[in-house]
Amino acid sequence: MEMKISPSILASDYANLQTELERISTADLIHVDVMDGHFVPNISIGAPVVESIKKVCSVPFDVHLMISEPLKYVEDFARAGADIICFHVESDSDTAQTIDKIVSLGKKPALAIKPNTPASAVVPYLDRLEMVLVMTVEPGFGGQSFMESTMPKIEEIRALRPDIDIEVDGGINAETIKIASKAGANVFVAGSAVFKSESPEKTISLLRENAAAQKA
Ligand code: DX5
Ligand code: ZN
Repeated sequence: MEMKISPSILASDYANLQTELERISTADLIHVDVMDGHFVPNISIGAPVVESIKKVCSVPFDVHLMISEPLKYVEDFARAGADIICFHVESDSDTAQTIDKIVSLGKKPALAIKPNTPASAVVPYLDRLEMVLVMTVEPGFGGQSFMESTMPKIEEIRALRPDIDIEVDGGINAETIKIASKAGANVFVAGSAVFKSESPEKTISLLRENAAAQKA
């Protein structure tokens, strides 16, 4: 399983997005957090910003929709340049229909679960997904602490689909990444750990090494 690091630009300086993206050019994916102020309390960025930054970045975009009605917006994000479109099983949109729509737009569908949602919620869709996102904090804010209690869900999903990408998001740093990797995760979102470090490039390498060292 390939280990992928997906820095979250939520922790970056929005006034200088192009420069911030250059600092993480060695990443495998760029994690874009989209919040609607409804599914989660915060509002972050929308499709027009994704469209602009896509023009100055060649790393694939991993767009995490924390919005109530993803079905309504997946087309906008697909057009804007999302490569992976991840939405929440807890959203108000029909899950199967939303996956179909993402696939029909030629994008990779991913499904996310919050810390209190059981792994069984994604099981019916596993065959049609490119990736499952197991949230390791409550979605809505950067800089929270990693919840180790979510690890058994990763083990459960990994046992069912040895080949699928399993992403973790929230509180990932050089230490917690080892725990998540051991449980079976292989795609790691890191916001604060990457952007608040002196050298994002060195941090990305260290995260990759630590994840590989603890591979499940
Ligand atoms: C939280 C977001 C995360 C966030 C992670 O709702 O989905 O992607 O940016 O931030 P850190 O890595 O700082 O916990
Ligand atoms: Zn996220």
